Amino acid sequence: MTDGVAPNAVAAVSEARQWERLMAMAAIGGFTDPAGHPGVNRACLTPLDREARRLLLSWAGPLGLTPSVDVLGNLFLRQEGADPSLAPVLTGSHMDTQPNGGRFDGIWGVIAALEAVQALREAGIATRRPIEIVAWTNEEGGRFAPGCMGSMAYAGFKARDAWDAITDNDGIRFADALAAQLAEEHDIPRRPLGIVEGPAPFAYVEAHIEQGPRLETEGLDIGIVTGIQGSRWFVVELAGKTDHAGTTPLSLRQDAVQDMVRAVTALNALMHDPADVLRFTVGRIEVSPNTSNSVADRARFTIDFRHPDNAVLQARGNAIPGVVQAAVARCSAGVEERFHATPVAFQPLVPEAVERAAAAQGLKAMRMPSGAFHDAQFLVSVCPTGMIFVPCRKGVSHHPSEYAEPAALAAGARVLAQVLADLANR
Ligand code: GLV
Ligand code: MN
Ligand code: MN
Repeated sequence: MTDGVAPNAVAAVSEARQWERLMAMAAIGGFTDPAGHPGVNRACLTPLDREARRLLLSWAGPLGLTPSVDVLGNLFLRQEGADPSLAPVLTGSHMDTQPNGGRFDGIWGVIAALEAVQALREAGIATRRPIEIVAWTNEEGGRFAPGCMGSMAYAGFKARDAWDAITDNDGIRFADALAAQLAEEHDIPRRPLGIVEGPAPFAYVEAHIEQGPRLETEGLDIGIVTGIQGSRWFVVELAGKTDHAGTTPLSLRQDAVQDMVRAVTALNALMHDPADVLRFTVGRIEVSPNTSNSVADRARFTIDFRHPDNAVLQARGNAIPGVVQAAVARCSAGVEERFHATPVAFQPLVPEAVERAAAAQGLKAMRMPSGAFHDAQFLVSVCPTGMIFVPCRKGVSHHPSEYAEPAALAAGARVLAQVLADLANR
């Protein structure tokens, strides 16, 4: 690569411009929580999502980037290469947030990609390969479960219509929300869907806040991400019978909440891990009729289970339905798996490029796996893939108090600019 020209691109990264763009994005779906933290609630395929995408396009247009969108709503911005026939380097992340989300998870990876490409242009660097910025559809899975739908369809993990019938809290089908978005974005040229309909990119690199405390605790600037642990999501449905809370003897009840407690207690035993590596979360519970003086006839809860070792992920994940069935006493139980991402290790190409860039810029970096899942997990089977982490305050994420320093984010964008210049000149 172009060791002579990359420093110019690195110098052209603007901390102020990147921060201003992030704060402009944070206003779209922005709210203040009761503690005064500035959160963002920008679910995928909503008018707010589209407003954010239009804002991104308004920045990309003057830079001469060419937009396109695929059938899953994944949005791409292409910077042409000296040889347009070469496979592009792909970089980006997601623009949707958790319902109680922060200002950096996902969106920074998209804004950093734009900042890095803009810096390359301002430095007069024309790469051999095209560079494409991507904003993946529905990474979070907060409105429509599971997450990473855009990248899964792009990589051929699932058919494009696999989630059509999934509904949000208001009963809106994913297929209809997606169709509405594609209709509103009819002016954006359509492109083939990922490797299902087109060629693979040369490499994929995603910048993201760490979402954990290690970089900050250890006083480091950059995480060279080596891979991502496995995740499985399940939904458990318990069906019993509703009764009057004052009159119905306990012996006659089919109380869905009591069976939910039995199931979760049994699952806690299944997921026991003295090494504290395993992650097990029941994060969402719905009960009906959800009133204090009626016995619940229905309980529904989610399971988010993660582990870096695929053998553990498979063995304990596969045991979940049986453990739930054995635990419930009075209700019928159904267990449905919603998401299955096996652990991945990144090939050396991108992590080594990140390591070289961080070293060249005098940044303190370490190799680390990701505990959170990302769209990068599904790109691993498509092309050499990697991620750049930057520290975030106290490791907090998926919360309005999520925060990353402007200087830390600028450092990450500088590393990304150098990595893009490196990869796109191969
Ligand atoms: C991503 O949002 C995750 O939950 O890891
Ligand atoms: Mn994210
Ligand atoms: Mn997230």
